[in-house]
Amino acid sequence: MQKIHWHSFATAEKVAAAASQQILTAAEQAIKDRGAFKLALAGGSTPDKVYHLLSESRADWANWHIYYGDERCLPADHPERNSQMAQASLLGKVAIPAEQIHTMPTELGPEAAAAAYREVIAGVDSFDMVLLGMGEDGHTASLFPGHVNSPDETVHAVYNSPKPPPERISLSAKTLSQTRQLLFLVTGEGKRDAVQQWRQGIILPVALIRPEAGVDVYIDAAALG
Ligand code: 6PG
Repeated sequence: MQKIHWHSFATAEKVAAAASQQILTAAEQAIKDRGAFKLALAGGSTPDKVYHLLSESRADWANWHIYYGDERCLPADHPERNSQMAQASLLGKVAIPAEQIHTMPTELGPEAAAAAYREVIAGVDSFDMVLLGMGEDGHTASLFPGHVNSPDETVHAVYNSPKPPPERISLSAKTLSQTRQLLFLVTGEGKRDAVQQWRQGIILPVALIRPEAGVDVYIDAAALG
């Protein structure tokens, strides 16, 4: 059963402000308790505001470790790569050591990239925080409705994605659920139908993400309806 904590805000800007505050607070606590903050970044456009706010904040960046929830199979410098978005709005502006930024090598193609990233994930017992977005069909990371993924894999090679580009890699639902905290960032009217289905208990991909502590959904009024 998925435990959901809904946090609704009037605007996308307020969602971003509250979410970035929760991330900074979690980072401080994780570094105090364990000496490191392991964060998995979300892709898509919604997190961009959060990344910008984080880049303007004070934090112990030297102890941040960055992973990705999913990535698009495009050349490494392609502007549509989630890593390029994160680089432009956060990673290129703060002093996180390069060796602690674990980009998904999707320029290698789905199979080789997934195999390489399974090695990276093998070294992570649990994330401190995972960030996720949600698509209008209820997909999250690159876990899409109707796609069948092997439950034993930690990282999936993804084909025939309904959202371009068709080839991607994604952390599995199980891997995404191995985290102390998980934030969904959901804004905009386009997400309203999927949100209503989710609240009615329909098992969309978002509903398959089940960390022990539950999930926090940061949502604006337009998406909540
Ligand atoms: C991707 C994302 C994807 C995204 C949703 C929402 O690579 O496209 O990881 O899961 O989070 O599609 O996208 P928006 O935030 O742009 O609406």
